[in-house]
Amino acid sequence: MKITLENSLERFSEKFKTSKEFTEKCKDIIPGAYSRVSFNYGPHAIYVERGEGQYIDTIDGHRLLDLNNNFTVNVLGHNHPKIANALSEAIPKGFSFGNPMRYESQLAEIICDRVESVEKIKFSCSASESCVSAIRIARANTGKNKIAKFEGGYHGFIDDLQISAHPAPDRFPGPPSRPAPLADSAGIPSYTIENTIILPQNNLDACVKILRENAYDTACVIMELQSGAGGVVVLDKEFVDGIRSLTEELGILMIIDETITLRADYHGLQGVYGVKPDLTVMGKIIGGGLPLGAVGGQARYFQVTENGQVHLSGTHQGHPLAAVAGIACLEVMDEEAYDKLNTFAEQIKNELNEWADKKNYPFIVYGAFSFLGYAFTDKPGREIKSHRDFWHFTNNDYIFTFALEMANRDFFPVHRGQIALSLPMTGEDIDSFIHTTKEIVEGLLNN
Ligand SMILES: Cc1ncc(COP(=O)(O)O)c(C=O)c1O
Repeated sequence: MKITLENSLERFSEKFKTSKEFTEKCKDIIPGAYSRVSFNYGPHAIYVERGEGQYIDTIDGHRLLDLNNNFTVNVLGHNHPKIANALSEAIPKGFSFGNPMRYESQLAEIICDRVESVEKIKFSCSASESCVSAIRIARANTGKNKIAKFEGGYHGFIDDLQISAHPAPDRFPGPPSRPAPLADSAGIPSYTIENTIILPQNNLDACVKILRENAYDTACVIMELQSGAGGVVVLDKEFVDGIRSLTEELGILMIIDETITLRADYHGLQGVYGVKPDLTVMGKIIGGGLPLGAVGGQARYFQVTENGQVHLSGTHQGHPLAAVAGIACLEVMDEEAYDKLNTFAEQIKNELNEWADKKNYPFIVYGAFSFLGYAFTDKPGREIKSHRDFWHFTNNDYIFTFALEMANRDFFPVHRGQIALSLPMTGEDIDSFIHTTKEIVEGLLNN
């Protein structure tokens, strides 16, 4: 069947009519209808009634295979009995105190046992907040002001970091080897933008030059090993090793943001790369579906928080219920669970890439674990090595239509061409996703 944007949109609007009506109604009281802009999926959000296992049930009465999983949070799918039971046991004890409960330290122990570079850890309510903590700790330890981040790297919505996460094709400031900072939102002060250094992914020579010039006032480099929200880009191991040696030499702290990538491996994606950062930011799966963020790292960097130099605080930081859910989630996520997810991811990647290769289709699936990206490219076999590659060589209109068509066929991926698997998924779910992807790709490309 031939697929066009027009016919996909028409069927989407019909299928998700109730969600559309609800979105319109909400706009009267919430600007844009909801507090989270990333809920947008095509022309409006799809409202959910409930989730169970690998599925979501929408208010329109449809059951979709959830390949979004709250943008990678729900590694155990929805309403997992271990998490639900742990919360049911904890709730009757009360859920908000001006005292600590034991859960926070239990979760801290679990994470420190798994992620080698994390000797100590402080929790917050989100990865964005933990990025604030990480940067403050880095500035206090180094006595320097500026921070460096990568073009296409997303680290939440804070002023310091919502810069050059999403520059689009028509507005890339600076040459590829020396990107200039560009705020992703109005309202970010110019002095913040000036204090943010932008680095190109997978271009070590360029990073060496930029960081050497700015080392005297750069406190940290923050990076994802496999980026997510800015578009999937996998960093080469040699590149990451190069940044590690360089930051060590220049007295710049290396912060790896594992907010998404803790779902990659029992030891984090840093375990797979064999790299030991100074600090690590975490979020998403560590709260088991409740709001939780964390910054961890080598003990010596946390002395500034122990001696009172650095003040980190917040009413709900390390919330007991989020810690309870996080403990339950990580206990289920043993090595076997990671293996199952990664095997499914490899199957999707291999089967679809071999098929696209054989057909000579400009379509790729890439990424390295249970969070994958897929893209329609300018030519078969194209590799994506940087954020600019992503924007220059992939077709966003196709991805938009692909997402609508997926929902029309009862799948709910991340709208920007990504999927996050969950543990309850079966081999049948994976096969049907592969089959449906092939149908949609053919329908789009054979127009
Ligand atoms: C790598 C990364 N860091 C930080 C964040 C911000 O997390 P939060 O939305 O919990 O503040 C995100 C969110 O998607 C992320 O993907």
